[in-house]
Amino acid sequence: MNFSIKKFLPRTLFGRSFLILVTPILLIQIITTFVFFDRHWGRMTDRLAFAVAGEIAVIAARIEKDTDIENIKEITSYAGQNLQLLTSYEPDILLAEEEGDRKSSLKSFVIADTLSKAMDEQVRRPYRINVDEREKWIEVSLQLDEGLLRVSLPQRRLFSSSGYIFLLWMFSISLVLLSVAVLFMRNQIRPIRRLAVVAERFGRGMDAPSSFKPEGAREVRQASQAFLDMQERIRRQIGQRTAMLSGVSHDLRTPLTRMKLQVAMLENCPDIEALKTDIADMERMIDAYLDFARGEGGEQPVHTDLQAILERVVAGIKRQAVNIEMEVEGDLSLHLRPVAFERVLSNIINNARKYGEDIWVSARRTDDALEITVDDNGPGIPDDKMEDVFRPFYRVDESRNAATGGVGLGLPIAQDIVHSHGGEITLHKSDRGGLRVIIQIPV
Ligand SMILES: Nc1ncnc2c1ncn2[C@@H]1O[C@H](COP(=O)(O)OP(=O)(O)O)[C@@H](O)[C@H]1O
Ligand SMILES: [Mg+2]
Repeated sequence: MNFSIKKFLPRTLFGRSFLILVTPILLIQIITTFVFFDRHWGRMTDRLAFAVAGEIAVIAARIEKDTDIENIKEITSYAGQNLQLLTSYEPDILLAEEEGDRKSSLKSFVIADTLSKAMDEQVRRPYRINVDEREKWIEVSLQLDEGLLRVSLPQRRLFSSSGYIFLLWMFSISLVLLSVAVLFMRNQIRPIRRLAVVAERFGRGMDAPSSFKPEGAREVRQASQAFLDMQERIRRQIGQRTAMLSGVSHDLRTPLTRMKLQVAMLENCPDIEALKTDIADMERMIDAYLDFARGEGGEQPVHTDLQAILERVVAGIKRQAVNIEMEVEGDLSLHLRPVAFERVLSNIINNARKYGEDIWVSARRTDDALEITVDDNGPGIPDDKMEDVFRPFYRVDESRNAATGGVGLGLPIAQDIVHSHGGEITLHKSDRGGLRVIIQIPV
């Protein structure tokens, strides 16, 4: 029940506020209109019709009594002067069938309907009612014993248009009120929408524009201020982490370089070979930590053609005589940090090269995202390890990895960067036998 109602509710705040505003107004209007038409206006029309039918009945009775020309003339002139009824009597004529009552509008239908009810009650003879909508006249033909009585009367004798005018006023005033309310409402909603946009941008790694200031109602201002504070804190933390890691790595590099030189000058012996390998490993690790620390590196997102980046990475791999295929569908330009994103692609594709043999890369644009898929035909990653490999320094099966020489930071770095673009990186089993990596970036 609850669920089914939710489906019909508008999704936006503006839509919901509008509904909250419009529903009571509409309800009041419907009730007022109903009560007014049913109670007041309906009853008034009934009474007017009753009076007119009564007058017609009296005229008919008078004519029936004496069909003498003089008498009819007299009655006709009274009716015209005092009752606003234009009457004529045609002896020996029968009520024609086709003189039916055509009703072209609701108004003429209501008039004809109420009048015929009153006629049924007061004049028990066959009759026809014609409503002339354009001329605002009503014509009643009544079958008397020896002829046909025609009575024409102006519509205003049966129908008061003040009812329409009342409703018109009511509707137009509510319309004006509603427009004013909508204007105010939009001004209230704008700051919320701006906050939402800025928060979403921040999720994709873009800072709030300097023009963004807390504004609007107090609660909205509070939320905006809280968001700005949070953004500042996150930025500070990232800065500290980066500074620390790169500081440590940098400081380690200097003694390491010295060690490398010292070892190079030592005599050749098997132990020294091992030492050299260790030093080379340490150097590579430190480079990886520095990469990780630099991560975001303060790079600003710009409009980028991702296809060019992809081609560059793929060309680099191809030079190592690896079988790699690429397939691109649609326009791949979007807003991102090109250097960081090149690192993502290079980490993923280099993994495919290290752990697999052949590589298949495909990229396409869907309705709301850009999707890059990298397949390989290596051993893949067991299902229960697919989450772990995103943890820094985690490597599946150390012995298998020993030859490939990584430190387990490639995927975490890639995930970090993809997340900072508001995107998603997921691992799957590939049809090609190995691992499938899917990167999705919203556009
Ligand atoms: N294409 C792949 N096929 C098989 N295993 C992979 C693949 N890519 C990554 N892995 C596994 O995930 C682990 C983590 O990857 P990564 O973070 O890039 O670290 P690294 O490559 O430095 O070891 C790797 O050690 C490897 O065990
Ligand atoms: Mg790697």
